[in-house]
Amino acid sequence: MKLNGFSIVIFTVLVHNALTVPQITKRDSQLAETCNPTVCKPPNCRCASTTLDDKIPIQQIPQLVTLTFDDAVTALNYEYVEEAINGRVNPDGCPAAATFFVSHEYTDYSKVHNLWADGHEIALHSITHNHLSSHWKNVTVDDLIAEFGGQREMMAHFAKINYDDIKGMRLPLFELSGNTSFEAMVKVGLEYDSSWPTQHFISPGLWPYSLDYQSIQDCPIGKCPTASVPGAWVTPLLNWVDSEGYKCAMVDACGYLPGEDVESLVEWMIKNFEHNYNTNRAPFGVYIHAAWFLKGENYFEAYKKFLDYMDSLPDVYFVSSHRALQYTRNPRAGKPFDKCEPLRTPSCVPKLCQLVKQTTREERWMTSCSPCPAVYPWLGNPLGENK
Ligand SMILES: *[C@@H]1O[C@H](CO)[C@@H](O)[C@H](O)[C@H]1NC(C)=O
Ligand SMILES: *[C@@H]1O[C@H](CO)[C@@H](O)[C@H](O)[C@H]1NC(C)=O
Ligand SMILES: [Zn+2]
Repeated sequence: MKLNGFSIVIFTVLVHNALTVPQITKRDSQLAETCNPTVCKPPNCRCASTTLDDKIPIQQIPQLVTLTFDDAVTALNYEYVEEAINGRVNPDGCPAAATFFVSHEYTDYSKVHNLWADGHEIALHSITHNHLSSHWKNVTVDDLIAEFGGQREMMAHFAKINYDDIKGMRLPLFELSGNTSFEAMVKVGLEYDSSWPTQHFISPGLWPYSLDYQSIQDCPIGKCPTASVPGAWVTPLLNWVDSEGYKCAMVDACGYLPGEDVESLVEWMIKNFEHNYNTNRAPFGVYIHAAWFLKGENYFEAYKKFLDYMDSLPDVYFVSSHRALQYTRNPRAGKPFDKCEPLRTPSCVPKLCQLVKQTTREERWMTSCSPCPAVYPWLGNPLGENK
């Protein structure tokens, strides 16, 4: 038996080598070529560009705003989001939505379920959330498949949400490792990555684009991809500018704020919004960790006032990152979508699980919408099975 198997392998390798040498090299990723917008056209391809569509006058492009939150979803940050966002309605009558790039540890999966049922987007931010940038610089495609493919399963199972509704990912620390994360993303069946900041293309801003061809985007953190990765979309993180003129990839990473009072903060936020609103209307991202609201007495108040301001404009829409991508792939003037995203009736019966993390023997509590797993779910064992 063993010998037979062995000779079959040898035989296949020989035939394969003899007949298909060029194909073997072809299976490696190809270097991306310059993007030609007459060849690479939406909805399945888009060159990296600050122009949405020559035929749509800028004043008729809806200003999409993506509110995103990183890291664990907990009872505490869930409340902030409920208060700031739920109940807002976009000009097309659809409910406002945000995006959560969720990391696994300390996440309350019943809250994730509720966010999803309320129409927010649930996206991936890794299982381990390893805090060393050297770790993410070095990862292989398989490492990332374990992190993000595993987390996709984990999320669908414990938060009881549709597997297919999970479409996006964000690397911890925005630490790109060349082609690796984009290749992993496509293998896991995700549509977009939201880890690539830009400092150059903020006003006018870079629209989301696909990686079929060469990007034009600057590369402030990590190594950028040079391969062609069809099926991988980039939703670039347009940097904000702090009050001293320094660029920041996330709002809560801005070092110099104009003051601590609500009015100065809101005025500064509006200035950043106008980088997009007054130029090409590329989607405007407000990227934060909800923990930021605890750092300054007035930060949450300012955030809400800022949303009120944008909400008062007739052509501003709070949408998930995936919706913003969907619009970019199917651009039109005026109302951005045919219909609203579906809301769901929440159907999670939360179970509080007392578990042990196998790697460190630490105790972890986890709230789940599915029966409690045998061990704390982790890399390599995303469903927490007894192995
Ligand atoms: C990405 O892929 C291209 C094309 O295969 C290759 O030339 C390049 O070295 C890769 N980049 C990294 C950082 O591995
Ligand atoms: C990353 O890879 C380099 C070269 O392969 C190696 O020297 C280094 O120890 C690795 N670092 C980590 C954190 O794995
Ligand atoms: Zn994070």
